[in-house]
Amino acid sequence: MGLLDEKVAVVTGAGRGVGRAEALAMAKEGAKVVVNDLGGVMEGSEDRSTVADQVVDEIKAMGGQAAANYSDVSTLEGVDSMIWTALNKFGGLDIMVNNAGILRDKTLLNMSEMDWEMVQKVHAKGTFLGTRAAARVMKTQGRGGVIVNTTSMSGMMGNFGQSNYSFAKAGVYGFTKTAAMELGRYSIRVHAVCPNAYTRMTADLPALKGFTEEMLNPAVIAPLVIFLASDLSKDLTGRVILAHGGTIGVKVSEFKMTMAKGFNKKDGLPTAKEIAENIDQVLIPDPDLDIPAAFRFA
Ligand code: NAI
Repeated sequence: MGLLDEKVAVVTGAGRGVGRAEALAMAKEGAKVVVNDLGGVMEGSEDRSTVADQVVDEIKAMGGQAAANYSDVSTLEGVDSMIWTALNKFGGLDIMVNNAGILRDKTLLNMSEMDWEMVQKVHAKGTFLGTRAAARVMKTQGRGGVIVNTTSMSGMMGNFGQSNYSFAKAGVYGFTKTAAMELGRYSIRVHAVCPNAYTRMTADLPALKGFTEEMLNPAVIAPLVIFLASDLSKDLTGRVILAHGGTIGVKVSEFKMTMAKGFNKKDGLPTAKEIAENIDQVLIPDPDLDIPAAFRFA
């Protein structure tokens, strides 16, 4: 018995890296998986490779069920096409994993409008279109569903050279919280995972220097996605959870934008001087933050 028996899932950007591992693991748990990937180069343009086909072949070779889809998550037609593949081949949709992503890293002063827009298009618009299309189908089916978005520590804590990407990924955090509130009435649960893995996307980042794929294994996110997509977490929604590690050890932990105890004043507006005098209460003390080593940027 698999944890996802009888479920139909779409995983975007599943031809490589984190998404590939998620698709393989979900198929092992019994899900019928639409493996979406346009086979793009990392900066977002198409290279028409057949990475989605390869993952479908791997799933079929282990006795699972899968279908490939090569469309672009950042277009309405693309998202409609992958949902249609799920309905047409497998008769429904229960799980949508919005994972596809690109990077166009530049420092803010050197960032072009195209670098900015491409990243918003794939991460922000792609997540919106994928969530909306999946939720509409799930609402009509009337049996609930699960949507798992993909955010990044870059969005939650910032990362040098990634202002476009951190903007989009911070948006995924807030979007996930709002979507969970709105879709709960249809029994649709919405979460986001926050990977930190050695993939094509991250291999050259200074923060991952000295790490290998075994140390930061992209497959470490898959068990978390299965947990969130299965009945094991049927009472949870709106959670943003990080998974990180491999041979260096593994960490799975919720990420929450939170508030410090604060400087609270009842009698009128504070002066700037009072804020300075009470800065220890205004700020969250550093020792209270538990940040994985790979995110402790110099
Ligand atoms: P990857 O580059 O190995 O895989 C991403 C896949 O998405 C590629 O196969 C690519 O062809 C596909 N893709 C890109 N644009 C697409 C589009 N418009 N439509 C359909 N497919 C498209 O990258 P990785 O590392 O597996 O990243 C997966 C997700 O995890 C991304 O959303 C990324 O931002 C996120 N992430 C990854 C981290 C990491 O440490 N690897 C850290 C934080 C977030």
